[in-house]
Amino acid sequence: ADTLGSAAAAQGRYFGTAVAASHLGEAGYVSTLNREFDSATPENEMKWDATEPTRGTFTFSAADRVVDHAQAQGMDVRGHTLVWHSQLPSWVGGLGAADLRSAMNNHINRVMGHYKGEIHSWDVVNEAFQDGGSGARRSSPFQDKLGDGYIEEAFRTARAADPAAKLCYNDYNTDGVNAKSTAVYTMVKDFKSRGVPIDCVGFQGHFNSNSPVPSDLRANLQRFADLGVDVQITELDIEGSGAAQADSYARVVEACLAVDRCTGITVWGVTDKYSWRSSGTPLLFDGNYAAKPAYHAVLSALGGS
Ligand code: G3I
Repeated sequence: ADTLGSAAAAQGRYFGTAVAASHLGEAGYVSTLNREFDSATPENEMKWDATEPTRGTFTFSAADRVVDHAQAQGMDVRGHTLVWHSQLPSWVGGLGAADLRSAMNNHINRVMGHYKGEIHSWDVVNEAFQDGGSGARRSSPFQDKLGDGYIEEAFRTARAADPAAKLCYNDYNTDGVNAKSTAVYTMVKDFKSRGVPIDCVGFQGHFNSNSPVPSDLRANLQRFADLGVDVQITELDIEGSGAAQADSYARVVEACLAVDRCTGITVWGVTDKYSWRSSGTPLLFDGNYAAKPAYHAVLSALGGS
């Protein structure tokens, strides 16, 4: 196998990338995307501010461009994301509890309904826990007005809206065993014990010198898998360059391959030049779409060449 997608497929996994609709007119972007990746996550186009900027008025044109492109290439699509404190239009924060509950459920129903049967996995709830050692929930309109139960309610609504989609909880700084990942673990364990629908947990994998690839990444993925959920690396990018960056990428791939229920990896962009880390070089292709050492390390770790 000589592409990321085909090498991952030979291991029973997918290899995806975040895709921005605004770059789909650029030849180098599209040829790299089409050649290397077999899964796509719209980077911003499915978020609440993009899909329901005003209450009850839904726009899917940008997200549809990404989904249409992915489907035409035979790629799976990860849906990202339904309930998140960020990129949330201000009208949502102005609602009282009863209205907020119905707006949340309506948003899930309408967005998932538009893509019913077309999404491999949905990030139903994103980044609901605080950083630091408390293991507490993050303040948000949902948390503050609806309490802890909003997450469970979102997952139940999502299951009914598209029973074919895998339903994921997604977060960052949860890649290793720490207080935040243990808080997520405790929630997932509780959901599984009570029959709350959840199929997967996404580990974003945003790494840099302050937050390097943890040595217990594999062990952490495995403890979640042992709860009976799939695990996925959902937004991988690693600051740095050269051999050190390549080695870090290889270690993430090896950790995923060592866990049977780690079903795939998504990197958070095709090329360094469009990374959300605007000053960095965290991805697998440089600004001219040349494969970096990190690319070759990932391909090799996947068993390709
Ligand atoms: O769409 C507007 C555009 O109309 C405007 O002209 C332009 C001017 O700044 O801004 C555009 O919006 C930007 C948007 O990306 C689309 O390009 C926002 O300012 C910018 O904040 C936004 O950044 C995104 C960020 O999420 C917002 O939280 C990044 O592209 C996206 O990569 C990043 O992705 C998140 C995941 O969803 C969740 N996990 C963390 C990850 C990295 O932050």
